[in-house]
Amino acid sequence: MPHFKLIDNPGPADHHGPVTDTLGRPLRDLRISVTDRCSFRCTYCMPKEVFGRDYPFLDRRELLTFEEITRLTRLFRAHGVEKLRLTGGEPLLRRNLDRLVQMLSGIPGIDLTLTTNGALLAQQAKTLKAAGLQRITVSLDSLDNAVFQTMNDVGFPVERVLEGIEAAAAAGLTPIKINMVVQRGVNEGSIIPMAGAFRGTGHIVRFIEYMDVGHTNGWRLDDVVPAVEVIARIHATWPLEPADAHYRGEVAQRWRYRDGRGEIGVIASVTQAFCRDCTRARLSAEGKLYTCLFATVGHDLRALVREGASDAEISASISRIWGERADRYSEIRSAETVGLPKIEMSYIGG
Ligand code: GTP
Ligand code: 5AD
Ligand code: SF4
Ligand code: SF4
Repeated sequence: MPHFKLIDNPGPADHHGPVTDTLGRPLRDLRISVTDRCSFRCTYCMPKEVFGRDYPFLDRRELLTFEEITRLTRLFRAHGVEKLRLTGGEPLLRRNLDRLVQMLSGIPGIDLTLTTNGALLAQQAKTLKAAGLQRITVSLDSLDNAVFQTMNDVGFPVERVLEGIEAAAAAGLTPIKINMVVQRGVNEGSIIPMAGAFRGTGHIVRFIEYMDVGHTNGWRLDDVVPAVEVIARIHATWPLEPADAHYRGEVAQRWRYRDGRGEIGVIASVTQAFCRDCTRARLSAEGKLYTCLFATVGHDLRALVREGASDAEISASISRIWGERADRYSEIRSAETVGLPKIEMSYIGG
């Protein structure tokens, strides 16, 4: 019988506490997609030719129930998750979403937010706030109606999204972040108007480099407007200065207007990859756990849950999956990786 203990190979020693991956990155953020459906067909995300009438969206029984989502979130919380973002597809399309928000807001220590296209926001802002949602991010690619309608490809008018943003502000879902995906030759002309419209409102516009997510949008490096260029253009009109990150691993680089009229952000996921600080896990609407936006294989947590696994067993799985994580796609992106199979963003959640 051995008279010593193996201490140099602890493995995932504590299945219930904070975990780190093979690159030392903790698990801090969880993004949960609550539906793979959307009312828009943004050309860079769900192009109509692919997401047309016959697209096999998930059946309702395949979606994680609110109880399942809440249970998993509690387990993730115990592993260190502090920030939870509900995404989609379009999360406001999930029926009774406010009930889920209410359940999740009961979990202590979690910053709870949501990313929406804003179409249903005017109707739902107050209810979501009352249910415990803290703040909100709205995707908006242009203030020019013609450009916006071409990009959402369903003719949705920009005024209705603006009404949604106003309703969210009135409900106190603040600070509001407004995400604009910038595509060369498509909406780059909207950079200055967008910055100008939200300067001084307290809302934070974030300019996002167009990424090669999924395999349906025909991405090319030439379509990316680098974040440095976005900053230079805005700076030429309204001088900017860099602001410190709020926390390690913040995705957006913050810049504030020198005249004190607020701040903007740039998300340089292509030209300045931020994988080394990436603390995000993603849970698809059907309960598959992905450790990278560009992962091709998900881990089926729903199967565990529906097979009757105990909390300890699920917890151990989460711990193991994160412990084995080595993803850093954006840092190794190259001509070869761009063509690899990927998961659609509308499925895995933005
Ligand atoms: P806040 O804490 O509210 O700032 O949230 P966030 O910084 O996580 O931002 P958000 O969820 O709004 O993400 C904005 C955009 O950044 C997404 O829509 C993606 O385009 C991009 N993004 C977010 N997370 C990742 C990531 O893990 N990897 C890559 N490559 N891009 C990401
Ligand atoms: N590149 C960058 N961001 C994207 N989003 C969707 N597709 C892409 C892409 N190809 C973002 C949108 C939205 C969120 C749901 O995902 O900006 O904010
Ligand atoms: Fe829908 Fe958002 Fe994708 Fe546009 S970017 S199709 S709004 S999920
Ligand atoms: Fe994280 Fe993957 Fe995005 Fe890198 S590419 S920041 S590892 S999600």
